[in-house]
Amino acid sequence: MRFPQELERWEGNTVEHWRRAWNLPRLHILEWTGSTNDDVRTLAQERAPQLTTVIAERQTAGRGQHGRSWQGSPGKSLHFSALLRPAETPALTATPIRVGLAVARALTGLLGIDIKLKWPNDVLLNGRKLGGILCESTTGRETFVVVGIGVNVGQDAADFDEDIRDRATSVAMAGLGVSRAAVAGALAGALTNLSARSALELSADELSELAHVDALLGHDIEIDGTPAGVARGISPLGALLVEKNGSLTAISGGTVRAKHHAFSPRLRGNPSDQGLD
Ligand code: BTN
Repeated sequence: MRFPQELERWEGNTVEHWRRAWNLPRLHILEWTGSTNDDVRTLAQERAPQLTTVIAERQTAGRGQHGRSWQGSPGKSLHFSALLRPAETPALTATPIRVGLAVARALTGLLGIDIKLKWPNDVLLNGRKLGGILCESTTGRETFVVVGIGVNVGQDAADFDEDIRDRATSVAMAGLGVSRAAVAGALAGALTNLSARSALELSADELSELAHVDALLGHDIEIDGTPAGVARGISPLGALLVEKNGSLTAISGGTVRAKHHAFSPRLRGNPSDQGLD
């Protein structure tokens, strides 16, 4: 299948060059689309192979977590979705956390600055949101996971809406001259390594690596605006562990924010932004 709005060239090279460089079975780079996650799901239903990837310059219906919209800047942000076909039915709640860990590892390696994660799937740089991950699973006769990743690469502060400007960041704002192609290559590499692993639960090694990148760990948090206790890490099934009055609860949903954090002030305006809480 070819999309009518498919590009032949991107970031100074042919799409075929990037497909080979990133070792992907299929790569579509689109001038625009609704949501790259929807495109990958359509391709998955047409039997596309694992790691089939769609990138778009512009999304007209980009989705974020919690049903929010995701808005990028054409030519500056990366909208990237890839298909995972787990060999066994994985713990689908653990999968997004495992993906986040792989993305954090890859971006830390590429950028040389520690990337942190805010449960479940915010990617933080210097305490601000650099990007987000939206994993959408389809179970049934065939189980697959569409991994959608949005990364702010070339934006200046002025590219972000005023209501999120103090909480969002980009690769360029961190003073790094790293291209969208380099970021996409790092993400493709992260997912390639990950696709070989299909353990049901997060392993002890993964949990200990997560503890190093968990931006919430040890902080007082609120869930959906209500004080919830102190974040105590992630469970093997990917839930957020919260301690209150001496007992530990595993939280599997809700909008979490840490109190007194750069990335946590309440929104003043409409939260149709970059999933900032
Ligand atoms: C979040 O809310 O933090 C997750 C944002 C995920 C955005 C990406 S951009 C590529 C892919 N396509 C979408 O519609 N969403 C994801």
